[in-house]
Amino acid sequence: MNQKFSPLFKEFKFANGVSLKNRIIMAPMTNFSSHEDGTVSDAEVKYYVRRSQGVSMVITACTYVTPNGKGFPGEFAADRDEMIPSLNKLAIAIKEQGAKAILQIFHGGRECPPELVPNGDTVSASAVASERGGSKEPRALGEEEIQSIIKDFGETTRRAIEAGYDGVEIHGANGYLLQQFFSPHSNRRNDRWGGSLEKRLTFPLAVIDEVKRVVEEHAQQPFIVGYRFSPEEPETPGITMDDTLLLVDALAGKDLDYLHVSVSDFWTAPKRGVEDDRSRIEVINERVGGRVPVIGVGSIYSAEDALKALGTGVPLLALGRELIIDPDWAQKVESGREAEIETKINKDAQDRLVVPDPLWKAIIHSPGWFPGVE
Ligand SMILES: Cc1cc2nc3c(=O)[nH]c(=O)nc-3n(C[C@H](O)[C@H](O)[C@H](O)COP(=O)(O)O)c2cc1C
Repeated sequence: MNQKFSPLFKEFKFANGVSLKNRIIMAPMTNFSSHEDGTVSDAEVKYYVRRSQGVSMVITACTYVTPNGKGFPGEFAADRDEMIPSLNKLAIAIKEQGAKAILQIFHGGRECPPELVPNGDTVSASAVASERGGSKEPRALGEEEIQSIIKDFGETTRRAIEAGYDGVEIHGANGYLLQQFFSPHSNRRNDRWGGSLEKRLTFPLAVIDEVKRVVEEHAQQPFIVGYRFSPEEPETPGITMDDTLLLVDALAGKDLDYLHVSVSDFWTAPKRGVEDDRSRIEVINERVGGRVPVIGVGSIYSAEDALKALGTGVPLLALGRELIIDPDWAQKVESGREAEIETKINKDAQDRLVVPDPLWKAIIHSPGWFPGVE
């Protein structure tokens, strides 16, 4: 290894004692490739096996905790005990390659395509349609339903423990249900779940409490609980950076194992709510002040990019698209071959890269999403 990159391969220890062999993590990425019944497919398992050797931890694609939370065609299920063998198959595949396996647990809320949820009944904090193209107005959840979804996150966590995962990541990012409760765009409630910023935090914090309670009750060994959030929304009203810093304070008080920021570029500066030229991730990491480890992410294509990102003080880095484009990213840096990292998708390399058809089609037909697809 080129010694200058050795900080990327330094062991990392979580406060709960679990250690990671290096600082490179696979970011959660939906792959649209599970079976209709919610079980993981062999193609999907192979895709993970191909990417779990060099990294220290793999965060899976999101999995739905209850049927009305299914957000993607080909999304795998964790909403019932029957799914435990399927979940276990994926956990084993990842862990056998030497990485920790983290299950990303999710409810899509108003972003769920109606055809994927029972009776087309999409739900959210309030009956406000998403501004993302063609979205239908959801139904506002009732008190009992909210309680039931909180329990569903807990039940899915129990299944993750029984299926052999090393932890769960609560998906509070990318505009899905937890974020919908925090956002002033999608949460117009005036009960205990909304009305002020503090009240808009009630649902995400209740999910965390329930997940932690279940871990306390069921896990026989240290079990990682992380939380992912998006720092800003483009809508007005919408989450701004100053709102996010208050969210960060609340999360930092929850005894989580890590916080994971969701952005597509590590270096983007705050747009609204905070005047700062530094990147949103740096501003967040400063606010966290070492209370909990932060995972940074976003367009970290080269070893130099990764070193620079780590230099901001963020202890862990997640790679998403980069590991689809080059599954050997970490091994190449570790063996001094960083110059050989591929940074553009090679359109002829689907088989070599071991990418399932539905994900490959999504990549190839979405100009601008992946480098190499214009
Ligand atoms: C194909 C694909 C699927 C994704 N699915 C998820 C997901 O299920 N959950 C999530 O939190 N983020 C998801 N993301 C976002 C990534 O985790 C990551 O934040 C983003 O791609 C930026 O990092 P990168 O530049 O390393 O790709 C997805 C991204 C891609 C490219």
